[in-house]
Amino acid sequence: MFPHFENCLNMTLREWTYWHNVMHRHYTTYLGSKVLKPPFDWLVMQDIIQETRPPLIIEIGSFEGGFALWMAHLTEAMSLGTRIVGLDITDRPTKVNHPRITWVIGDATTDQVFRKVEELAENRRGMVIEDSDHKQHTTRKLLEMYYKFVSPGCYLVVEDTVCECLSLPPFPGPLPAVRDFIQQHGDQFVIDRSREKYILTYNPMGYLLRRPDAQRGE
Ligand SMILES: C[S@@+](CC[C@H](N)C(=O)[O-])C[C@H]1O[C@@H](n2cnc3c(N)ncnc32)[C@H](O)[C@@H]1O
Repeated sequence: MFPHFENCLNMTLREWTYWHNVMHRHYTTYLGSKVLKPPFDWLVMQDIIQETRPPLIIEIGSFEGGFALWMAHLTEAMSLGTRIVGLDITDRPTKVNHPRITWVIGDATTDQVFRKVEELAENRRGMVIEDSDHKQHTTRKLLEMYYKFVSPGCYLVVEDTVCECLSLPPFPGPLPAVRDFIQQHGDQFVIDRSREKYILTYNPMGYLLRRPDAQRGE
């Protein structure tokens, strides 16, 4: 059913990424809940969480909740008290239950959802993962709203910036939103391209490090 390695040796990165983009929607899961990420980015997230030990992780767009559950298990195994707040416009992720995860169901761009997240964060800051509808306008708005939850030395991850590189919808997608955000907040954030160490990533230019010496600019 799947192509075999020995028959794919001439595949380009572009061809592999297209293929994976179709395939992973169906077959990549964590404990039965789908995770819409390629395995290399998943490993990079492990590195980031292990190195930065965030007390709070906000995932904007949780789909079936598989990735949030994995983060809950990882931070538990690391003996961190990390609180995970998963946002989604549908209630799909709520089938997943874990004491560290709180689901907020609704449109993340609204004041109502934002206020709920503020309440749950209780002044904690840490890491934010933006993985919602990937439209430029939505992404830019969400980055502006939620970057304040990222602590210095932690990451704001903008997912699926690969859309632009592969000419995949939405048009325009998240990469111009990242460029605009960095133009405005370059004193606070820097694109950390060392997180693209496997080359294969869905998030080129999407790993934004809050400068360790950044002051609260919000
Ligand atoms: C790409 S999926 C998320 C994948 C998930 N982070 C993972 O790693 O498996 C995008 C999710 O964002 C949700 N979404 C889209 N627009 C949203 C919005 N404005 N607010 C909250 N969630 C949104 C969708 O319902 C969908 O479940």
